[in-house]
Amino acid sequence: MTTAIAHPNIALIKYWGKAPGPLNIPASPSLSITLDQLTTTTSVTTQSHDRFVLNGMEADDPKVAAWLTNLRTHLDIPGLSIETTNNFPTGAGLASSASGFAALITAINAHCKLGLDATACSSLARQGSGSAARSLFGGFVELRAPEWCATPLFDAAHWPLSVIIAVTDTGRKAISSSVGMERSRTTSPYYPAWITQTGVLFDEAREAIRLRNFSVLTRLSERSTLDMHALMLSSQPPLLYWNGVSVALMHRITALRESGVPVFFTIDAGPQIKAVCLPEAMDVVESALREVDGVRQLVRTKLGSGARVVND
Ligand code: PMV
Repeated sequence: MTTAIAHPNIALIKYWGKAPGPLNIPASPSLSITLDQLTTTTSVTTQSHDRFVLNGMEADDPKVAAWLTNLRTHLDIPGLSIETTNNFPTGAGLASSASGFAALITAINAHCKLGLDATACSSLARQGSGSAARSLFGGFVELRAPEWCATPLFDAAHWPLSVIIAVTDTGRKAISSSVGMERSRTTSPYYPAWITQTGVLFDEAREAIRLRNFSVLTRLSERSTLDMHALMLSSQPPLLYWNGVSVALMHRITALRESGVPVFFTIDAGPQIKAVCLPEAMDVVESALREVDGVRQLVRTKLGSGARVVND
């Protein structure tokens, strides 16, 4: 048995939309932070036919099955029993597919002695879930052309940001990212502008991170989030991933910042709000978010490391 762990990542500059073709290549670059506290643990053992157990329940996951079939066209991978556990809600906009595919390829690579480096694993993880490519690495990570495998930009020590995740709903999201992205690409009149604008924000955000300029990163990252959700809202039928608590939290974080607290929000394809702040602001941000009606859980985390094997 081989066990690997990986952490979810949150994009500060988002991707939403894929290039045409089979390899799950994003249509625009993205830049993320890998989280420490949230963890996917995945164990694989060899057996005659594939079996997939998610959070203790036997599951049929067509996305994992199709990904494995594709891997086996060029890699020697036997039948596998895969057991995977998340210490956080699955499929609820907390990037469980990112940590999931990153942990899985890391475990398979070691178990089957494939000899792939982290970059090659990142490309393969991307074929399962675009954002998974980034969870192979820790700290600040970018995913960009032309290779479309993630590369580490800076490690967590470069700028030890903190994140507080406000969970507002633990249910699975109604519309998957892949379906939502395709809907936006094919129906939103704003899609071409979104792609162009993301390239600009990406370049500026890399520089803001290099210089550790929190106010510039705040502006760029909230813009990327709100541009993406504007694109989602302008899709047909519209994609609205927020609930009322998400909106209340956005207002609360904006008010906190206006009162001088270094914090900004970021939101993925779900109703959870992630507040990114400087470490010294963590307690004040946490108590402010706790006061918002409807917040179900707050998870504090620092930046974490990349996917790794924990026993073999
Ligand atoms: O990993 P995917 O292909 O399911 O897409 C994730 C998309 C967002 O989380 C909304 C944005 C991002 O860049 O992570």
